[in-house]
Amino acid sequence: MTQSNSIQHSQAVQSLFKPFKLGKLSIPNRIVMAPMTRGFSPEGIPGQNVADYYRRRAEGGVGLIITEGTLINHPASASSPNYPSFYGEKALKGWSEVVASVHAAGGLIFPQLWHEGTTRKIGALPNIDVMPVGPSGITSAGVKVNEPLSETEIASIVQAFAQAAADAQSIGFDGIEIHGAHGYLIDEFFWDKTNLRTDKYGGDLVSRTRFAAEIIAACRLAVGPDFPICLRISQWKEATYWDGSNHIGRITGSQWHSQTLYLSSKGQYYIIEDTSYQSDKYPKINLLSKEEAASWLLLNEHELPEDLKEYEDELVE
Ligand SMILES: Cc1cc2nc3c(=O)[nH]c(=O)nc-3n(C[C@H](O)[C@H](O)[C@H](O)COP(=O)(O)O)c2cc1C
Repeated sequence: MTQSNSIQHSQAVQSLFKPFKLGKLSIPNRIVMAPMTRGFSPEGIPGQNVADYYRRRAEGGVGLIITEGTLINHPASASSPNYPSFYGEKALKGWSEVVASVHAAGGLIFPQLWHEGTTRKIGALPNIDVMPVGPSGITSAGVKVNEPLSETEIASIVQAFAQAAADAQSIGFDGIEIHGAHGYLIDEFFWDKTNLRTDKYGGDLVSRTRFAAEIIAACRLAVGPDFPICLRISQWKEATYWDGSNHIGRITGSQWHSQTLYLSSKGQYYIIEDTSYQSDKYPKINLLSKEEAASWLLLNEHELPEDLKEYEDELVE
């Protein structure tokens, strides 16, 4: 590195540590932690482990933490009972303890408010009987999973975001981030592939932003003029990160334990076993032979895909 490069580099690094003003909020530096879903909040309630996790980030010098996506009060918002809720007395109490821990360590924190839209799989916990919802009831692959959201349902979701914003403010958060990215519900309204509506929520790009605009307006009304509201948008969709694996079958041994069998784009079968809520451990991934995959599917009363049918007679005997 030349001397002038090195001076520029050190100036760039130094500016990371300068305070930053966001409206009336003073952020101690420009290090902002991106939201990252964790799945360590059994029954949607963030406990001491969650407060400790975020406190450690503030102690490490993060100026502003954006929490993992946290679900607004709508029955189809979440796809896992381990994702934290942002409604209900217990979950909000848990979040208030997260806020207190982060503030005590000198950090600031916004919750990311989330609704998964039709990325949520049919039959997903915690509300297995509730179907996924989206602007046109279709997934990013164009598969119909539900009727389009009615205007009444849309209004109730807008209000659920506003209630979450009001609750965030009342339990001491420093602002909110609305998750409008990655192909989830709000992004499904933005995107012409998942928004085929012909009413005021669909059509040209401006009309497709109406849902997000209504959410922001309702949140603003709920929190007053000074509370920061961020909207996360993205060029990419959740499906963009999909590695080509196909979901073949799933069993849920209990509310807290699941096994999902996938076929990868390279033709390998693997099972993801998720018991991570219990132990702060990551889900286990096990590669299977074709015979093992066929045996797992038969044992769990799933149909065999074409390339495993040859094992059926042998295994059923
Ligand atoms: C495990 C994991 C979970 C994530 N969860 C969320 C989330 O809840 N909300 C969100 O907006 N982005 C989420 N993201 C995306 C990150 O916020 C970030 O945009 C992404 O990791 C790219 O940044 P990087 O290149 O610094 O990793 C997640 C990313 C990872 C790796």
